[in-house]
Amino acid sequence: MLTIALSKGRIFDETLPLLAAAGIVPSEDPESSRKLIIGTNQPDVRLIIVRASDVPTYVQHGAADLGIAGRDVLIEHGGAGLYQPLDLEIAKCRMMVAVRKGFDYEAAVRQGARLRIASKYPGIARDHFAKKGVHVDIIKLYGSMELAPLVGLADAIVDLVSTGNTLKANDLVAVEPIVDISSRLVVNMAALKLKHDIIRPLLDTFASSVAV
Ligand code: ATP
Ligand code: PRP
Ligand code: MG
Repeated sequence: MLTIALSKGRIFDETLPLLAAAGIVPSEDPESSRKLIIGTNQPDVRLIIVRASDVPTYVQHGAADLGIAGRDVLIEHGGAGLYQPLDLEIAKCRMMVAVRKGFDYEAAVRQGARLRIASKYPGIARDHFAKKGVHVDIIKLYGSMELAPLVGLADAIVDLVSTGNTLKANDLVAVEPIVDISSRLVVNMAALKLKHDIIRPLLDTFASSVAV
C-alpha cells in the first residue's frame, strides 16, 4: 500500500493532473467528502487529507510514504527525515515582508527600530531579520496576517503573496522579498528504500510531467 499525504485546496487541485499522468484517479473529492482517507482507482494507492503544514510531519514519521508540501512549510518544518527529490512547480508564490501603506519600513530599519512582526512562519521571519541584523519581536499567528498591521498588532507581516490582491485589499504594500515558493514532493526516507519499486516510477512520471 502506498499512502500519499495532500492538503485540500490548491495543492490537491494542482496535484490532480500529476496523479492522472501516473494513472491515479481519486475516488472522491475531498472538498465535498468528509473522509480523510480517500481511495483511488489503484487498489494499492490511497490519499490522506491533512493540513498543509502537517504534511511533512506525516511523511517524516512514515504515516504517509510521500506527500506534497510548500517550500514555506518545509523550511519552517526543517525537513528532518524527508527526502525532497522534486520541485513540482505548483502553488507558486513569494514569501514577503509587507507593511501598511505609509509606514516607512526603510527608515525604521535604518534607524534600528525594534519591529513587531506578525507571521504564521516564525522561523522564516526570525531568520530573515536576524540575517539583516534587525531586532524583532515575532508574533505567531495562524492566518489572516494581513489584519495585524491594520489593528496595531504588528508593524509588519511576513506572508505569502501571489497576485498581490490580498495586500491591496487591505492597504498593505510588499517591501521586501524573502524567498520564492513552490511545492515539492517529499518522500519518507525508509519508504524510498522499502517501496522503491512503486515509488521510483511515480517520481519519474511526476518529473516528466513537470518538465513539460
Ligand atoms: P491551512 O489552511 O492549514 O492554514 P494553508 O493556508 O497553508 O493551510 P493553502 O492555502 O492550501 O493552505 O496553501 C498550501 C500551500 O500553497 C502553501 O504552503 C504555499 O506553499 C502555497 N500557497 C499559499 N498561498 C498561495 C497563493 N496565494 N498562491 C499560490 N500558492 C500559495
Ligand atoms: C494566501 C496567503 C495570502 C494570499 C496571497 O491565502 O496567506 O493571504 O493567499 O495571495 P494573493 O497575493 O493572490 O492575494 P489563502 O488564499 O491561502 O487563504 P487562507 O487564509 O485560507 O490560507
Ligand atoms: Mg492559505
